[in-house]
Parts: sequence; C-alpha cells; structure tokens
Amino acid sequence: MRALYGTDYDVEDEITVTAGATQAIFTAIAAFVRAGDEVVVLEPVYDSYVPAIETLGGRAVFASLRFPDYRPDWDQVRSLLGPRTRMIIINSPHNPTGSLLRGDDLDRLAELTRGSDIVVLADEVYEHIVFDGRQHASVAAHGELAARSIVVSSFGKTYHITGWKVGYVLAARELMAEFRKVHQFNVFTVNAPCQYGIAEYMQDASRHLGLARFYQAKREFFREQLAASRFELLPCHGTYFQLARYAAISDLPDGEFACWLTREAGVAAIPVSVFRHDGADDRVVRFCFAKRFCFAKQEATLAAAGERLRRL
Ligand SMILES: Cc1ncc(COP(=O)(O)O)c(C=O)c1O
Repeated sequence: MRALYGTDYDVEDEITVTAGATQAIFTAIAAFVRAGDEVVVLEPVYDSYVPAIETLGGRAVFASLRFPDYRPDWDQVRSLLGPRTRMIIINSPHNPTGSLLRGDDLDRLAELTRGSDIVVLADEVYEHIVFDGRQHASVAAHGELAARSIVVSSFGKTYHITGWKVGYVLAARELMAEFRKVHQFNVFTVNAPCQYGIAEYMQDASRHLGLARFYQAKREFFREQLAASRFELLPCHGTYFQLARYAAISDLPDGEFACWLTREAGVAAIPVSVFRHDGADDRVVRFCFAKRFCFAKQEATLAAAGERLRRL
C-alpha cells in the first residue's frame, strides 16, 4: 500500500485479512448499517451488496452509472443523501462495466460526504487490472476519503485464487475497530496455511504489478476476435469483463439474448440488467475474457468463442 498509494496503514490496527472480499463487504455493512439505515449504491451494481444491505435491515438507494460510459452522476448521488444515509458503496475498477473512477470522482465524493458521518465502502478488488497506462485511483491514496473509508481487496482476484477465499480490508483505526467487532464473531480468523502461502508469494511484486499487462493482452486478443462480428464493443478500462451491445444481431431483451447465445452459439454471457434492481435493460451483455474458475482462459478458448460469435 505504501509503495503503490503512499499510504501507511498500521499492520496491527488498520489491516484485517478476511475470507475473501465477499465476507469483507458483508462484515463492513454489518458493522455500520442498522435497521432503516440507507446505503447508496451505483447501478449496475455488483451482486453481493444489496442482499447484504437488506439482510441486515438496511435500505439500498440506487444511483445510476450513465450509459454508455457508466460514469457516476455525482449530482444525482448528492440528491439521494439524507439523514438516514449511513454508507456509500463504490467499486472501481467496476464489475460489470470495466469503467474506472478518476481522481476528480474521489474529490467529488469527498466533497459530498464532508461534515457527515457517512462511511465509504470502496470495493477495489480489481485494483491491479487497469489498462492503457491508466492509474487506479485508490481511496487509500485520497487523504480525506481514506479517513472515512473501508477499502476492500481480494487475493482471489490478484492471484487467480478465487476459491482460496482470502482478501483484506484497510481502514483507519477507529473504523477498523468497529469492523473487527463483527469480524471477530463471524470469522474469527482466516485459515492460516493460505495466509502463509500468500505472504510468501506476494514478496515478488512483479506478480501483481505485471497483472495489468497480462490481462490487457487478453483483452486485446478478445476484442480482435470480435472486431469483425456484429457486436458493438464498449470501452473496457479495467477488470476482465468486456461489455457488448448486440442490437445488430437481435432485439431480444438481454436475459433472453444471453440464454439464446448460450444455447445457440455455445458462448455464455451475463445480461447486464441483472445488476440493476429494476431490471432496466440497455441491451448489453458482459463477456469474461480472462477467467475460468481459478485459471486464466486460454487463447484457444477465446479464439473458439470469437469464431462462434462472428457467425451471428
Ligand atoms: C466487484 C467484486 N467485489 C467482490 C468480489 C468478491 O471477491 P472474493 O472472491 O474475494 O470474495 C467480486 C468477485 O467477483 C467482485 O467482482
């Protein structure tokens, strides 16, 4: 964290290893959100946040990332804040859209939350998967926001070990003390053998610092495969997800199109409407160009998908 973002988190009091980002997110919400509290999320939204908020008695309040570049509208976020707002959840690089928050987005968020006791939950699990020379704008590097934020990351994403379920959170001492009141009783500690293994593996920083180049090559390859297809590819600035519009191929709603694509072309995609509470449909699907369970997808697999998708 110091090398990347210039931020010192105290090893004893400000860093907690978690059973993956999923537990970190649930625990953070449990630590701060009480019945009737509101949590602002930005749609399309990664699918674990809203069930966690609702299970804990909170109410999700939905802002929109604007189609087609999926940028936040901070004026809209501002209009949704009120006395019950307890938390804002952000995610960058963003699943499912591959969009990034920029430094000026963090400045706006800092301004919106200034003087309040709103906690920011920053899901940064794809922090090392950012393309085209762009920089990940970490909340951890933003002095003002870092003080009110829980930053979540995942070794599952960084080291292709999804099933190991090991991640971590970073937060200022006072926030971390609250986080740990819940972590203590829903996890206690994360399995030690995996922690030792990861601790040793991460000594070689080139393994995570080389990730962007590795995934960018996959993105390029997949995009080249689809260049001659009738899919319209949206920009992908980070993550391993590629969004595509399919209006030239079909006028089906995205869920039906994804089923059709799986059955007829043998290529699975996720309809983006499932990441929205009201199912609003931009007729866009999400392809994953890099991961198959814990393994990176082979070029041959991407080429076979490309060949099938070009026929549509
Ligand atoms: C945005 C985002 N947050 C959190 C997670 C969960 O990460 P983990 O596997 O470490 O629980 C994922 C996994 O897909 C994700 O895409």
